[in-house]
Amino acid sequence: MATRTIRHLTDAELHGRRALVRVDFNVPLDDQGHVADATRILAALPTLHALLQRGAKVVLLSHFGRPKGAPNPKYSLKPVAARLADALAPTPVHFLPASVGPDAVAATHALAPGSVLLLENTRFHAGEETNDDTLARQFAELGDVYVNDAFGAAHRAHASTAGVASHLRPAVAGLLMERELAFLGETLESPERPFVAVLGGSKISGKIDVVEALLPKVDRLLIGGAMACTFFRAMGLETGTSLVEPDRLDMARDLMARAGRKLMLPIDAVVAPSMDAGAHAHVVSREHIHADQAMFDIGPESSTAFAREIAGAKTVLWNGPMGVFEKPPFDKGTRAIAEVMAHATGQGATTIVGGGDSAAAVAEAGLEAKLTHISTGGGASLEFLEGKVLPGVAALDQA
Ligand code: 3PG
Repeated sequence: MATRTIRHLTDAELHGRRALVRVDFNVPLDDQGHVADATRILAALPTLHALLQRGAKVVLLSHFGRPKGAPNPKYSLKPVAARLADALAPTPVHFLPASVGPDAVAATHALAPGSVLLLENTRFHAGEETNDDTLARQFAELGDVYVNDAFGAAHRAHASTAGVASHLRPAVAGLLMERELAFLGETLESPERPFVAVLGGSKISGKIDVVEALLPKVDRLLIGGAMACTFFRAMGLETGTSLVEPDRLDMARDLMARAGRKLMLPIDAVVAPSMDAGAHAHVVSREHIHADQAMFDIGPESSTAFAREIAGAKTVLWNGPMGVFEKPPFDKGTRAIAEVMAHATGQGATTIVGGGDSAAAVAEAGLEAKLTHISTGGGASLEFLEGKVLPGVAALDQA
């Protein structure tokens, strides 16, 4: 069964009607309180344009930060409304400092077709995160159809992502949600082969369910980042002061035994006495990490070996940096993955980035346009890759 999307809605369901769209506008702000990274706002535009073109009144709900169920000006969506207005100009974008109640409902009715109303942070209500049914009903009064385009929040069973759909039908996916489900779901379910997954980040414990879900599907699993050090230790190697999860050594051993030749670990490492001692960084083979050094990036031979696998793949999934990419000189391994993925895309491969830090690394390298799909989800993409049912998706109509 496939999730219904806005493509399934009839003109009668949209023209002059209120489309209540849950978006994920949980974006970072800069020191001046302006949107620092508009990726998630821009990613929602195809859905918004499609609804506006079909004459809908577009009412937007989003959470923003973690205000813990009470109003807090620090977490107002007002700056986001300004950035959205720039992106949608000349379409009018209104902002109301409320997200439920008579004023909010009146504002949705008063909205002219072809314009947008962004309501205040859904998490200003305690009932949002508890999926309170009364709040869900109040959200439902804001629209005639419900559209969920907030893939980044789809792993949350909240009143605006899940509960609302019990009171407002049709309840369908937006185009961003559709795209995320297609690439992270269908494409990886029946990938064109070879299928290579690249996983990184600091802890194996946070990725183990993803590893388990991917292992039967991939042709190669490349593991970098500090989590590689737990494998090194499990192999009996000296890992110095690197981040190692001692309680996961058995898990790492078991994985290595089951994965066999599918699993590739780094063969060399960029090490330094500390993360702030980049000037003392140097490359060693994985057998020669000194007791007073820690690994902060994969080494050049590992990058080359990983790049060879990626270049030969037809489908590539990447989640998690290869090192401390925010701190040069420890950014090279991560950047190399981004670059070879961009190259592979040009050669016809489908390349997918599972959000979070690796998405940030791709953006920093200026390569966003050169990959097939970069997920807007952090936690949501991980849970989805683990094979979990996302409550925000499960709540929608199935075709
Ligand atoms: C995210 O940024 O990953 C989503 O917006 C979800 O936010 P949350 O982790 O605060 O629920």
